[in-house]
Amino acid sequence: MEEQYKAFASQLRRPTNEDGVKTGVHMNEGNKIMNLEAIKAVNPCAHDRILEIGMGNGFFVKNIVSIHPTIVYTGCDFSETMIEESEKMNAEYVKIGNVRFHLASADKLPLKDNSYNKLFTVNTIYFWENPITTLNEFKRVLTADGELIVVVRPKHIMENLPVTKYGFTMYSKEELILLLSSNNFEVLDSIEIEEPSREVMGTMVEFGSLVVRAKQK
Ligand SMILES: C[S@@+](CC[C@H](N)C(=O)[O-])C[C@H]1O[C@@H](n2cnc3c(N)ncnc32)[C@H](O)[C@@H]1O
Repeated sequence: MEEQYKAFASQLRRPTNEDGVKTGVHMNEGNKIMNLEAIKAVNPCAHDRILEIGMGNGFFVKNIVSIHPTIVYTGCDFSETMIEESEKMNAEYVKIGNVRFHLASADKLPLKDNSYNKLFTVNTIYFWENPITTLNEFKRVLTADGELIVVVRPKHIMENLPVTKYGFTMYSKEELILLLSSNNFEVLDSIEIEEPSREVMGTMVEFGSLVVRAKQK
């Protein structure tokens, strides 16, 4: 069983090949509420330039770009499998040119300085190797008045999941706010979202997420 959890943890970190494709589909369902709450916090508007880090298979991109034809969306993910799936899933938008995907790590983005007014990321912070470098990179690509939205499952929930002992760095609400505020971001608000409990290994586990919105100091 532990080997299976370890393999699943590795797929959640960077979905790869056939199992990665399945993991992408699984995440769309399991993380649906979080992704919809993230988009609500991003509040996509006409002329927004929105960057997402770690969009998985890009299932929710349509919920952003369908809001207004002038919205530009870029997704960066370090999984080749997720880039391929995202491009297939959003082929129409990629063809028109308002959606692009890049194979890139969060701490080294192939993007110009000050080029996005909104940057969001859902369920990726656990895997950032260097959170300070990553936040500096976010600051670099965001416009001066740009917003950062980070969405996570907080530590007290993640700790109850058997996969998270394999390579996940977990954050409580306080730890996430401290990380952002000590790295040039001012936290604007944080919203705790309750989700229905789920059965994990025969026991009901509390589920929920945290949406933190910040701007540059
Ligand atoms: C757990 S999945 C979350 C997918 C989606 N955001 C969701 O919440 O359903 C993490 C995604 O982020 C990507 N990812 C993880 N760490 C990353 C990093 N440091 N840089 C770029 N992408 C990363 C993975 O490849 C994967 O597609």
